[in-house]
Amino acid sequence: MAFLEIKNLHVALEDGTEIVKGVDLEVDLNEKHAVMGPNGSGKSTLAYALMGHPSYEITEGEILLDGASIVEEAADVRAQRGLFLAFQYPHAIPGVTVTSFLRSAINAIRKAKAGGQDDPIPVKEFRTEILAAMERLKVPRELASRYLNDGFSGGEKKRVEILQMALLQPKIAILDETDSGLDIDALRIVANGVNELVSSEMGALVITHYQRILNYVTPDHVHVFVGGRIVESGGPELAHRLETDGYEAFMPPEEKAA
Ligand SMILES: Nc1ncnc2c1ncn2[C@@H]1O[C@H](COP(=O)(O)OP(=O)(O)OP(=O)(O)O)[C@@H](O)[C@H]1O
Ligand SMILES: [Mg+2]
Repeated sequence: MAFLEIKNLHVALEDGTEIVKGVDLEVDLNEKHAVMGPNGSGKSTLAYALMGHPSYEITEGEILLDGASIVEEAADVRAQRGLFLAFQYPHAIPGVTVTSFLRSAINAIRKAKAGGQDDPIPVKEFRTEILAAMERLKVPRELASRYLNDGFSGGEKKRVEILQMALLQPKIAILDETDSGLDIDALRIVANGVNELVSSEMGALVITHYQRILNYVTPDHVHVFVGGRIVESGGPELAHRLETDGYEAFMPPEEKAA
């Protein structure tokens, strides 16, 4: 049984429009999966629904994390249970520094692990950990004391998300379009972050419409996502086929006509 199991998942918008139309996917620890699909195919919608965004309604199907359903759980509980989402468009939080944000996030997870008792990370330990992670992921020191994502460049936002992922140590990390707007160095840092962190303790689901990031992250499994569904799954060679053939070859007949 995989750590994350998605079974026949259907997701609708608030007005009832169905966007995700029956997805089956299993992502285990120590696995790198890539979901690739054209603009508007519903990839971010899938990511938001996995994370529990209130605007996306799960109308059918199941999401199991370590064997237990999370569809009724709020986003914070899903995070405590080991799910992490790096957003395509992360929000700025003026007034909250990167350091204080990371400390609160770590403490929320520690509290959940301690059965609801406060168990804050000692200041010295936090400092050591954050500095080591920033060094490793090449996050400039000065970002730590700035307000989260406030005025950050696209690349800086992504670096800070990878930093967050490294410190929170999720079981399953979902990265949505983390390659968009990244220069080649930032792209490498994101990819190296994924490569380093995926282990017997973590699996990753990388959502993208470019093959580019996959030059640095070699996925074990590639899934082609078109029209709200996974239409084909395979190994890394599938990403290369997409690069040459495009998504057209995978479109269902009714969408080709449209
Ligand atoms: N909150 C929302 N309100 C209205 N429409 C939405 C909302 N969220 C998603 N949609 C619509 O659902 C469809 C799928 O969007 P989604 O963002 O999931 O696509 P995507 O595959 O992530 O695309 P991209 O590759 O451009 O990031 C689009 O037509 C989008 O306009
Ligand atoms: Mg998207």
